[in-house]
Amino acid sequence: MPIVIDPTPEHIAQACVALKQGKLVAIPTETVYGLAANATDDKAVARIFEAKGRPSFNPLIIHIPSLDKAETFVTITPQAEKVAEAFWPGPLTMILPQKPHSPISKLASSGLQTLAIRMPSHPVARALLKELDFPLAAPSANRSGHISPTNPSHVMKSLGDKVDFILADGQTHHGVESTIIDLSRNKPVLLRYGSILKHEIEAIIGPVLTPEEITKNTQITAPGQLESHYAPHLPVRLNVTTPQKGEAFLTFGPVLKKDDTVFALSDKGDLIEAAANLFKLLYEADNPEKFTSIAVMPIPRQGLGLAINDRLTRAAADKSP
Ligand code: TXA
Ligand code: MG
Repeated sequence: MPIVIDPTPEHIAQACVALKQGKLVAIPTETVYGLAANATDDKAVARIFEAKGRPSFNPLIIHIPSLDKAETFVTITPQAEKVAEAFWPGPLTMILPQKPHSPISKLASSGLQTLAIRMPSHPVARALLKELDFPLAAPSANRSGHISPTNPSHVMKSLGDKVDFILADGQTHHGVESTIIDLSRNKPVLLRYGSILKHEIEAIIGPVLTPEEITKNTQITAPGQLESHYAPHLPVRLNVTTPQKGEAFLTFGPVLKKDDTVFALSDKGDLIEAAANLFKLLYEADNPEKFTSIAVMPIPRQGLGLAINDRLTRAAADKSP
């Protein structure tokens, strides 16, 4: 069972130690409880997906303590600066272009070139973030498909011993997840409704589109642009046991011959390790100067393997012209 602690300074320090060790800590925010882990640690992030039993890797929101810190990871556009000034800290997430050498786990951002980033206002979340020297990836602290938790007992019921610590601070204030605004496109788009309203954002930066409006708007080329997916340059072949000459080979389990065409997701056949390595290795293998395509060994379709297969299927499908 998780260790449930109230947010005294000693307990916050204890939670920081756990997070530094790559553990999962459920934390209160002003919206809902988040399942937090070190956003720069692939393995810790993989544990989030495993704990939630998520069948696909949705990109996660990255929580930061200040606008300065945000600038380490994303480009703060003039619009973003205004939005941050108006609504941060608070229940608003911005999608912004990610900086090229950002240390955020590619699993956390699903290999996208953008990043969802937010500065929470909850004093416990802020205390943690100030003390840590890395940001926190934190989706809502519930099993996939369950409702978002607004108090510690929800977290306990939904995740139980999947989480190491619960920082318990009663009921959350807003009870719905943060508003998400995408500022990485040519026009601002509201991706998720939350307690900061469209007209409040429009008062700061002018017209904001909703996903429904995008389909009608010719300036944004395709509604498919809104889908989060990772498309490698090279074709991807799945369920391959024997790769062809010239192919990069993503392997799962013990490999007899290891050379520079082999990218081992997990030698041990461990799904958490494979998930942690997935996006990183897809990036490395996606090198048209060295390889003709990417072949991937079969990955078991169970547990975290469902999420891995989901992302691989998208990566494979996206190559069709
Ligand atoms: O209030 C909240 O935002 C809570 C608390 C814990 O902070 N967190 C939360 O996170 O709701 P999560 O991971 O459940 O929601 C993340 C949402 C998903 O719908 C995901 O698709 C979207 O953000 N998202 C993340 N990165 C994105 C990106 N680069 N582009 C578009 N959407 C993105
Ligand atoms: Mg959620």
